[in-house]
This record gives sequence, structure tokens and C-alpha cells, in this order.
Amino acid sequence: MIGETACREDGYKPARIGICGGHSMGLKLIRLTKEYKNQLGEMLDEWRADQELNHTNHSPWAIFKNDYHDFNYYLEHLEVKDAKEGLVPDSVFFLLDEDRNRLLGAVNIRHYLNDYLLKEGGHIGDGIRPSERRKGYATEMVRLALIECKKLGIDRVLMTCDKDNVGSAKSILKNGGVLENEFLNEDGNIEQRYWIDLSK
Ligand SMILES: CC(C)(COP(=O)(O)OP(=O)(O)OC[C@H]1O[C@@H](n2cnc3c(N)ncnc32)[C@H](O)[C@@H]1OP(=O)(O)O)[C@@H](O)C(=O)NCCC(=O)NCCS
Repeated sequence: MIGETACREDGYKPARIGICGGHSMGLKLIRLTKEYKNQLGEMLDEWRADQELNHTNHSPWAIFKNDYHDFNYYLEHLEVKDAKEGLVPDSVFFLLDEDRNRLLGAVNIRHYLNDYLLKEGGHIGDGIRPSERRKGYATEMVRLALIECKKLGIDRVLMTCDKDNVGSAKSILKNGGVLENEFLNEDGNIEQRYWIDLSK
């Protein structure tokens, strides 16, 4: 929905995202620093309240695994630095709307796949805070995350989502995702596996 400004009949409100010389105006991926402590708390409070109310999934898990109230601990343990206990090293980025100085979502990039991630999970876990959904931000965040994947040397990116997670599936497809297969996961949901080729 890049560059669209009008609202659609189905309630979808595209973000005011413009592309200028390959950069999204006003939107960028940032790493968490103390400067964003207040914005982080404000976003996670909203997000957690919605999860409890609507029982929505906790993606990306990395930003919910620790309590942000102890900010120094949260920051120090946000990323997995060394492989351990089934976890691989990862990078966590937040989507910042510079115009509003507001965090909109987050993305977790796993640097390589282990057996579990190859089956489900993939390289990228992402989420947009509830109040900012259906405005095109996930699609844009995945696009920006793929640039980070390329920098990490990942040429084929695996992304997975539940088949009924239409927003996630569309954000993957709009970024070049090609469906490899679907399978029934342990939660009883049909999960889809998409590959995005960054080698060209
Ligand atoms: C899934 C999620 C990331 C989508 O974020 P978003 O910013 O709303 O997505 P976008 O606005 O980029 O939408 C992309 C497309 O999906 C559609 N879409 C988004 N949410 C939808 C929904 N709930 N139902 C139907 N369509 C939806 C949009 O209309 C848009 O369609 P279009 O390309 O035809 O215009 C967000 O809902 C979320 O954070 N959910 C909880 C965490 C999660 O599920 N993460 C993904 C884990 S695999």
C-alpha cells in the first residue's frame, strides 16, 4: 500500500508511506536504545493489554520475553548473542515513525535456521502494535527487514505464518514470498512456509 492515501471500503486504511530514492519517508528500523525507553513502554502496554483481551499471538516473541520495566535487563537480553538452548543468534529491530516519534512494531531476524526454525518459525518474526494495524506497516516493515537480512548474508529468507493469519500472509506475499508448503502444526493450526529469494 506504499504511497496510497485514500481509505478503502473494507476499512483498510493505508499508511502515509512514500518512497523517496528507495527510502521510506518517516519510517525506519531502529535498534533499541535508552532514548526509546518511554516509547517502548507505551507500545508494550498497549500491545499486552490487547493480547490479554483478544488472546492474539505474541509475535515477535523476542520483545515479550522479558519485562520492560527493568529496562537495562530488557535491553541487555533483547537479542540472543550466542546460540543456546535451541535458540540461534538474532537481531531485533523496532519500526519507528520518525514524524510521530512513535514505535509501530518490531521484527526479530534469526541469523540462521536450526531444525525447528526450518520447519516453523523461519528467519523473521514480526508484529505491529494493535492500534497501527491494517495501514500497510507490516508490509513495509518486512521490506525493511529483508534489507537487514541481506546485510546479514541471508540470501533465501524463510517466513512462516498460520494460514488464517491473512495480514501476515499478505505482507509476505507482497514482499516476494513463494509458498513452499503447508502443514498441521502442534497447535492444530495449518502453517504456511514461504521463501523469499534475495540472491538476485
Ligand atoms: C499480522 C500483522 C503483522 C499484520 O500487520 P498489518 O500492519 O496490519 O499488515 P498490513 O497493513 O501490511 O496488511 C497487509 C495486507 O493484509 C491485509 N490484512 C491485514 N490484517 C488483516 C486482517 N486481520 N484480516 C484481513 N486482512 C488483513 C491488509 O488489508 C493488506 O491487504 P492488501 O495488501 O490487500 O491491501 C498484525 O496483524 C500483527 O501484528 N498481528 C499479531 C502478530 C502476528 O500475527 N505476527 C505475524 C506472525 S507470523
